[in-house]
This record gives sequence, structure tokens and C-alpha cells, in this order.
Amino acid sequence: NKEVPHDKGLDNSLSLYQEGYQFIQNRRERYDSELFTAHLLGQNTICMSGEEAAKLFYNTELFQREGAVPKRVQKSLFGIGGVQALDGKEHDHRKKLFLSMMTPKEAKKLGELVLGKWEACITEWEQAEHIVLFEEARKVLLRTACEWAGVPLNEKDIAEKADDFTALVDAFGAIGPRHWKGRRARTKLDEWAGSLIEGVREGKLEVKEGTPLYTIAFHYDLEGKLLDTHTAAVELNNVLRPIIAIAVFITFEGLALYEHPQYRTHLTTDLEREIFAQEVRRYYPFGPFLGAKARKDFRWRECDFKEGQLVILDLYGTNHDADIWETPDQFQPERFRKWNGSLYNFIPQGGGDAATGHRCPGEGITIEIMKATLDFLANKIDYEVPEQDMSFSLVKMPTLPASGFIMDHIHRKVL
Ligand code: HEM
Repeated sequence: NKEVPHDKGLDNSLSLYQEGYQFIQNRRERYDSELFTAHLLGQNTICMSGEEAAKLFYNTELFQREGAVPKRVQKSLFGIGGVQALDGKEHDHRKKLFLSMMTPKEAKKLGELVLGKWEACITEWEQAEHIVLFEEARKVLLRTACEWAGVPLNEKDIAEKADDFTALVDAFGAIGPRHWKGRRARTKLDEWAGSLIEGVREGKLEVKEGTPLYTIAFHYDLEGKLLDTHTAAVELNNVLRPIIAIAVFITFEGLALYEHPQYRTHLTTDLEREIFAQEVRRYYPFGPFLGAKARKDFRWRECDFKEGQLVILDLYGTNHDADIWETPDQFQPERFRKWNGSLYNFIPQGGGDAATGHRCPGEGITIEIMKATLDFLANKIDYEVPEQDMSFSLVKMPTLPASGFIMDHIHRKVL
């Protein structure tokens, strides 16, 4: 690999933790190369970025997921036995389960549900001194996700469950207490989801056919067997957790509306809300990168990929790639009016085709929930934004505006 830049150092994991979202982009600029090698997580790793790199990464003949996700991430963020680490026929079959639950019709339903839940908050917010958007969003999304999924939820459990789901996501990129908090939350949430699955299978818990809880409880694997309780629990949480995680994008929506108030009056049509939501997903950081393992030896861009080698694709950097985006570091929703719709150049939730690869099956849901929330924030309420620390770190992964976005003097808009 003489021509491929190598990032010097015995182990660059520390730099990864110090530079966070910008680790790959910084080196891409330094070496002027769309890929480089580095010693990361104890192994010689290829890091790559950009549209062509994304196309390569999603070629399932060249890459597999099994063995690529570190155990510490499986034991916190993803859960063990879930769709993320499957390959081939097993992945195809499990992915169909997800896609069957996440149709455009269901996404619309979730958008409507969430708008109703936001509107139900107004009276309480009018009395409150202030609210923190991130905190409110987590609760609203937990209620929405459970109602949609057919999962019973006690009002008294909401704060704890919201914390536990957040802890799973927060464990990514964490070492020490944040990681362990995520692992404890994972054990609790998988036990809870497992008891729901068993309750449904044993007929003790009634749930409507067609809800995700029902669909997962009675999903058959390729051998015609029901998923074991633990795997079914992990997959149920693979539906609930990411819906609650949309709170991060919602908090960035609050920030974007504050930083770019000129767009507020535009958000009266579905199309305008859509391009704004897309730009929030592009501009603000959430998922930093993804890992896969080379299935075999091959050469690409003068670089020798070795069977079993870890390869990392830069999501945040690709969304800020100047070869793809004009003025990538400016927030400009209009750019999505003329976006070419490529499956590989805009990848906040992964790239490629969700039906055949690992791309997130929840993008439709995410966008509908973000659009409904924009409708609420721009058209249903008036509010003020007090002095606060809205800065967000590009080192901590995942990140969030420090204040969680505080709003006060909230009133229902009189139409
Ligand atoms: C996969 C991000 C919302 C369910 C992924 C991946 C990313 C991602 C980066 C990995 C893609 C890959 O491995 O190639 C996000 C973000 C979301 C979000 C940033 C917004 C907060 C959702 C929602 C759902 C969902 C709302 C479901 C209700 C999943 C599942 C996978 C996945 C099941 C695994 C797919 C597979 O391995 O085949 N998501 N996602 N996500 N997402 Fe999302």
C-alpha cells in the first residue's frame, strides 16, 4: 500500500476520540485522499469517505457486517443478535420484517401521531417557566413509538424508559461510565421487551395484529421457527430506540429554526418542511461513521483491502464533502430542491438500498416525524428562546446542543 496515506502512530484510537466527527475528514484533507489507513481499535483499518467510497462500502460481495461491530457497541447500542450484524440470506429475511413495518403509510401515521402528541403539550407548556426541547421530545417520541408499536406504557415509567433509551444511544463512542450506563439500560430494556414478546405469544397481553409488537412476536425465521425471546426483544428495541433517538434531530431543528429564522415563514407546505428536515439531517452531526469487514482480498484506488480487514465509512464527512455539496458548511435547505437523489451521496442514515443492504429502514419515519415537528414549532406555537449555551461538540459522539434547547413564553398560535 505504498501510494495510500497511512496515518502514523501505534494506535490512533485516541485521536479518534479527540477529533470525533472530524477524525476522517481532517485526514482526508491532510492527505488529499478519499481513503487512508490507520491503526484503530487495535487493528490496521481503512478509513474512507465520499460518494464512490460509499458505493464500494455497500457492495455486499466485498463487505460483510458479521464481526465488524465491536462487542461493546453490540452490548449497548444495538443489542446482540439484531439485524445490524447479519449478512446474506439471513439479513435479507430479517430486513423484510423491518421493511414490512416501516411503509410510507406507517410513516405518515407516525407523523400524525406525533403532531397530536406535541399539541397535547401546549397547555402545560403555557404554564411552565421554560421547557427543554430535547427532554420533551424524548417523552413525546416514547409515547408515540409505544402507541404505534402496540407496546403498553405506564405514565409513571416514562421518565425512566426515556433515560434508558437515551443511554443506549449515548453509549456509542463512550468509554467509562457512559458506556456502562448504556449496558445496564440494554439489559433492562431487553428484559422488558422480552416479557412483552412472551406475554403476546402466551396470549396474556392483547395486541392488535399489524402492530410491530405483534409482527415481531410472530415473525418466523428462515427455518420456520419463531425468533428466540431475546432476539425478538432486541428487534423490538430496534424499532423503539431509534424513534426516541429522533429527539436529537428535533433538538437540532429547534436550533436551526433559531439560527435561520428567515425559514420559519416558509414552512407552510410539506415540500418546504421536507427540504428543511433534509438539510437538518445533512448539516448537523448524528451518526459519525460505520464499520464493515472486507469479505476477500481486493484492490480499489491503489489500495489493497485484505480479507477480514476493518473498513470505516465516514457518514458525517460524506454529508459535508465539498465534491458533493456546494458550500457544505452552510445551512441551505434550498440545496435539496435540486439534489439528485443518489443513494450514496447523502447518507445520514447509511447508504445504498435499504431493501437489499443495511441502510436504515427508518428514514421515511424519521422524515415524517421531523416534518410534523417543524409544522408544530413553526405553525402551531409562538415561543421565545432565552440566553443559553447552544453550542455542540464535534468531538463527543453522539452530540447535542449543550442546553438541550430551552424555550420559554410558549403560547398556542392564534390562527
Ligand atoms: C440502521 C441512523 C432512525 C431502524 C441505521 C444505520 C444508521 C441509522 C446510520 C446504519 C446503516 C448501515 O449499517 O449501513 C439512523 C438515524 C435515525 C434513525 C440517525 C434518526 C434518529 C431510525 C428509525 C428506525 C430505524 C426511526 C425504525 C423505526 C433502523 C434499523 C437499522 C438501522 C432496524 C438496521 C438496518 C440493517 O442493519 O439492515 N440507522 N436511524 N432507524 N436503523 Fe436507523
